[in-house]
Amino acid sequence: MNLDSKIAIVTGASSGIGAEFSKMLVENGTEVYGLARSEGKLQGLQQKLGDKFHPVKMDITKSEDLEKWVQKTFSRNHRPDILINNAGVMYSANVDDLTKDEWHTMIDVNLNGIFYLTRLIVPLMKENEQVCHIINIASIAGLLGNPTISGYNASKFAVRGFSEALFKELRYDGIKVTCVFPGSINTDLFDKIDGIENHPNMMKTTDVSDTVKFLLQTDENHLINEITMRPLNPKDPTS
Ligand SMILES: NC(=O)c1ccc[n+]([C@@H]2O[C@H](COP(=O)([O-])OP(=O)(O)OC[C@H]3O[C@@H](n4cnc5c(N)ncnc54)[C@H](OP(=O)(O)O)[C@@H]3O)[C@@H](O)[C@H]2O)c1
Repeated sequence: MNLDSKIAIVTGASSGIGAEFSKMLVENGTEVYGLARSEGKLQGLQQKLGDKFHPVKMDITKSEDLEKWVQKTFSRNHRPDILINNAGVMYSANVDDLTKDEWHTMIDVNLNGIFYLTRLIVPLMKENEQVCHIINIASIAGLLGNPTISGYNASKFAVRGFSEALFKELRYDGIKVTCVFPGSINTDLFDKIDGIENHPNMMKTTDVSDTVKFLLQTDENHLINEITMRPLNPKDPTS
């Protein structure tokens, strides 16, 4: 896909890799609708990226709000070409300490939110004569289970299943679906997690956005449906 003059939706655009995807897309000529709850951060990003970035204050767990927004934003003459389902949250605790609220929040944001938005965007993409692309950001935690992140694992394993079914379902409609499995990235995701400190050996947000740019720019009939990426040496160099 040539990214120039395309239309993209990026969830979780207010920080981390979502903000980096938005920057990469705008720099390549794409108009970006960036969704997140933090309006101030989205507006700050718009000041940096300019008018091609549209800040959209949205909680992706609110399906009715998403429906209203999609209906008023898109039409036959203004259809999304790219959807990056990126918003996510992580809580870490032994299963007997993980609260029901933490469990439900991870399932709601990391899984249900992807379904709520994707089901609204797919019909618009099916009508689009150009090849479209849905990219779902899972995690290495969608491939490997580990102690203290059972809820996060459950939500991200589900993203993998959803993505695989979707790629097989939508390929003949000219819609690519890719599931991305990153290892640790230097973002705010771990702010609430005891025992995980950010460090310089985590991947940079640009490492992930460079890969997503490559995925989007593949030839029309070339689909990379899954991709895994990690720091070569994941250990904290200061410890
Ligand atoms: N960092 C890593 O090591 C790593 C590794 C593998 C995968 N990932 C995945 O990468 C994705 C992005 O995470 P990140 O590392 O960039 O962390 P981040 O900086 O914490 O970004 C998370 C984003 O999700 C948004 N978000 C959370 N709840 C939301 C909701 N209910 N509605 C709309 N947006 C919501 C946040 O915005 P608001 O708070 O403003 O709503 C924020 O923009 C996540 O899916 C994460 O699981 C991260």
